[in-house]
Amino acid sequence: MKNILITGGAGFIGSHVIRLFVNKYPDYTVVNLDKLTYAGNLENLKDVENAPNYVFEKGDIVDEAFVFALFEKYAFDGVIHLAAESHVDRSIANPMEFIHTNVIGTVNLLNAAKTHWKDSSDKRFYHISTDEVYGSLGEEGLFTEETAYDPRSPYSAAKAGSDHFVRAWFHTYKLPVVISNCSNNYGPNQFPEKLLPLFINNIIHNKPLPVYGKGENVRDWLYVIDHVHAIDLVYHKGMVGETYNIGGHNEWKNIDLIRLLCKIMDIKLGREPGTSEKLITYVKDRAGHDMRYAIDASKIQEELGWVPSLQFAEGLDKTIDWYLDNPEWIKNVTSGEYQNYYREQYENR
Ligand code: NAD
Ligand code: DAU
Repeated sequence: MKNILITGGAGFIGSHVIRLFVNKYPDYTVVNLDKLTYAGNLENLKDVENAPNYVFEKGDIVDEAFVFALFEKYAFDGVIHLAAESHVDRSIANPMEFIHTNVIGTVNLLNAAKTHWKDSSDKRFYHISTDEVYGSLGEEGLFTEETAYDPRSPYSAAKAGSDHFVRAWFHTYKLPVVISNCSNNYGPNQFPEKLLPLFINNIIHNKPLPVYGKGENVRDWLYVIDHVHAIDLVYHKGMVGETYNIGGHNEWKNIDLIRLLCKIMDIKLGREPGTSEKLITYVKDRAGHDMRYAIDASKIQEELGWVPSLQFAEGLDKTIDWYLDNPEWIKNVTSGEYQNYYREQYENR
């Protein structure tokens, strides 16, 4: 029997991690700690909420007393830390929230683990991070685990800071940590502020598709379930103190991806070919917009045997179908706060 703490389990990637761990490891008690910010939604976990090995704890990782009390209550054997403010555009508008959650929240968890894990030989603190910590690539090259950190947005700077603290707790206090840095995820349950779910939702409602700048920026897309399988492997088999890059070998220029999405949506919605593309609207670029991300995932492939399993065409198809099949989910998460966010982000841009 093991008690595992998963933070941010009501969010996009976290909810898929929770589902896999609850179903695959019935001998683990999976504790989901989540503040339920705008991005956290317990509806994402309806199918596992009554599982005997699942517990939800609402709380804030920035609240030191709460985090310490949770470690006291459950005597965790391991932590998979996903809770974060995750959207670059929000970090540009409101950086402090990102520093609180991503940096201070992470350090609170590290301190709680260090304090409670007297003998940490069989424990594990797994920190989930992003390829954005490496900065921006030109036309050539890939991010490896040796690439120097060069974060350029408040989001990536806060994630880079948290990565440094995790490594500092390993070197200084011998906390058994492992880190992975992943490229852009897509799939069901992603909040419709991120490119793909935002554009799918806007196409459904015939709203403009706001392409930043010239749409020439490149991202490396990975289906969320492939990321979750990598997380499972790194948590159980990754070497303490090591970092693993995770990516899809799947680079797309934004505008090419958007045009492909438009074509598929026209077919799925039974609209005339070219209808959705007419919604493309070029808008003011994101401040400090990183040009290109692309991951060299050979280390995790060679050492842990992980490769992405899904072809992009299949992943995109599944993703679009999920949003088309779940209008209530979209309606719920886009009511309330989202409306103000959307206005501020996109009106008069
Ligand atoms: P998300 O925004 O969908 O979910 C974040 C979750 O964290 C939400 O459930 C939210 O309620 C919770 N949370 C936020 N602040 C909290 C706090 N102070 N205390 C407790 N819970 C809090 O994020 P995501 O896209 O699922 O990303 C999860 C993690 O993976 C993040 O650490 C992110 O940096 C990292 N990551 C994401 C991607 C991606 O493409 N989405 C890629 C690489 C790495
Ligand atoms: O690379 C991993 C990162 O991927 C994660 O760490 C982040 O949490 C996640 O949000 C994502 O960051 P990006 O900034 O790359 O994702 P986003 O979906 O916001 O944007 C993808 C690309 O699309 C980017 O080049 C900006 C562009 N874009 C985005 C939005 C929301 C647009 O052109 N228009 C938009 O409205």
